[in-house]
Amino acid sequence: MTQDELKQTVAQAALDYIAPKLTPTSILGIGTGSTANFFIDGLAAYKQHFAATVASSEASAQRLASLGIKVLDLNEVEGLSLYVDGADECNAALEMIKGGGAALTREKIVAATADEFICIADESKMVTTLGHFPLPVEVIPMARAYVTRELEKLGATVVYRQGVITDNNAVILDVHGLSITEAKALEAQINQIAGVITNGLFAARPANILLLGTPAGVKTLYAKNT
Ligand code: A5P
Repeated sequence: MTQDELKQTVAQAALDYIAPKLTPTSILGIGTGSTANFFIDGLAAYKQHFAATVASSEASAQRLASLGIKVLDLNEVEGLSLYVDGADECNAALEMIKGGGAALTREKIVAATADEFICIADESKMVTTLGHFPLPVEVIPMARAYVTRELEKLGATVVYRQGVITDNNAVILDVHGLSITEAKALEAQINQIAGVITNGLFAARPANILLLGTPAGVKTLYAKNT
């Protein structure tokens, strides 16, 4: 199976998982990226079964709207029953690195408001230790050089993602060479640097369930304490 086929399979597994939970008042949080796109495309068939969505990026909002799915501003809703999104890396505790598509801040905000975070990923995303995928950090543009110097103090190599402006008019620094054993602590530490909007570690709010696409089928994993 190709990676795209695995992504499509987990997107369908997520649709099967959420379908019984949908009610006419449900408002769903929707992620960003190629795996989330497969989910969005499949969600169109269920649009009579829920009220609306909240998107974690302009790109996902546009894709949802183009399929006739209602998209609300997060400020218009009191909370979300569930959030479905991909990841760049995920460990056994269902802590993740996200932000490969530069949508990490809105993803983190939408995830924070959701009762249940359903992560959908192909098996290449599952890791023992987070950090092989460079950790994205979203930064206020004027703080870019300062934040780079602070992140280098972690012993990491920091690469400015040239030409990328986020939905929040900010920039992305990718932090290479980390081996992350204390994800929650590092997430908090990096977020303390002045000028950082947020970083792509999702450890304070990990996923609740991971639907992992493998050639042998979709595995369902729940968070384990590491
Ligand atoms: C977007 O900023 C990311 O957090 C994505 O959720 C993540 O990069 C997964 O993307 P793919 O599904 O395209 O691999």
